[in-house]
Amino acid sequence: MHRITLINGDGIGPEISDAVVSIIKASGLEIDWDLQTAGADVIKEEGTPLPMRVIESIRKNRVALKAPVTTPIGKGFRSVNVQLRKELDLYANLRPCKNLPNIKTRFDGVDIIVVRENTEDLYAGIERQVDDNTAESIKIITKDATDRICRFAFDYAVKNGRKEVCCVTKANIMKLSDGLFLDTYRKVAQEYPNIKPREILVDNLCMQLVQNPNQFDVLVLPNLYGDIVSDLCAGLIGGLGVAQGANIGKDCAVFEPVHGSAPDIKGQNKANPTALLLSAIEMLRYIGEQEYADRIENALIKTLKDGHTTCDLGGNCSTSLFTKVIISNL
Ligand code: NAI
Repeated sequence: MHRITLINGDGIGPEISDAVVSIIKASGLEIDWDLQTAGADVIKEEGTPLPMRVIESIRKNRVALKAPVTTPIGKGFRSVNVQLRKELDLYANLRPCKNLPNIKTRFDGVDIIVVRENTEDLYAGIERQVDDNTAESIKIITKDATDRICRFAFDYAVKNGRKEVCCVTKANIMKLSDGLFLDTYRKVAQEYPNIKPREILVDNLCMQLVQNPNQFDVLVLPNLYGDIVSDLCAGLIGGLGVAQGANIGKDCAVFEPVHGSAPDIKGQNKANPTALLLSAIEMLRYIGEQEYADRIENALIKTLKDGHTTCDLGGNCSTSLFTKVIISNL
């Protein structure tokens, strides 16, 4: 039996994790969930939103499913998500963005894989107040981190039958940092003759994505552009309720939706569990449970095709009803 860490998060986290755990259970796959609480709710008792026990659990089990966790804005604790990625060296953020049936979007046939570098760039957390008038954040790009993220993107492309990996930078302006990212990409690309290379500037990419997203296949980006562009791509396929994600490292992987803890709808039985469910389906593929992954995905697709959705997508299903219908379609 698989033992998997489950971080059920806060806000809508517990509602959507309950939904996903019950769908997986109903599929017949037995998972021994190692439940680990984290976030704002544990600070009072444990003095930190990310206790060591959570990291240790993921290190031991190697795989985690994570619901969203609230990060208070401004000073105080560092984001649990950023810290987790750093501690476990989860260097690749993978966000597949593909249209789902019956979800109204501007374009059909979108099928883009966003591969975002997850450990450096402006997210390295190197900031200082220079003087009263000036604050400074330093952008770090290294050859090693770029090399491994580009390899990850090309390997993903090869394994998943994709045709092109496009490198996204602003190397015309940040000639050294983005220049290094682009140079390193070019070197890695030469080792994958069967995958078409492509280069684009991030501003042009944004315009092209909202005009003709079907021209893109796999995108590889430094951290900040990756963060912004993956949300843009989430918008192309119906928004946060359906946008899945994964943070993958050499030794472990954490699967989580793109959206946050949605405190505005907490406890109202309104949250859409689809993004967490799609993340869990990807996780099942990662641990080799392809058959269960397909079965759950087919049940979700049938549910959507039959016109059942939650209210964020214009439907009228509650979280619990939507979950029930998916289970009945397994
Ligand atoms: P958010 O993603 O939580 O919510 C934005 C809007 O989308 C809200 O109107 C919300 O109701 C809606 N929404 C999000 N997920 C939904 C779902 N599954 N079903 C239906 N509606 C959904 O973003 P926001 O409000 O900026 O952040 C709230 C908190 O979440 C913050 O503390 C933030 O730091 C944290 N956060 C955590 C993440 C994580 O744990 N990976 C990622 C992003 C934000």
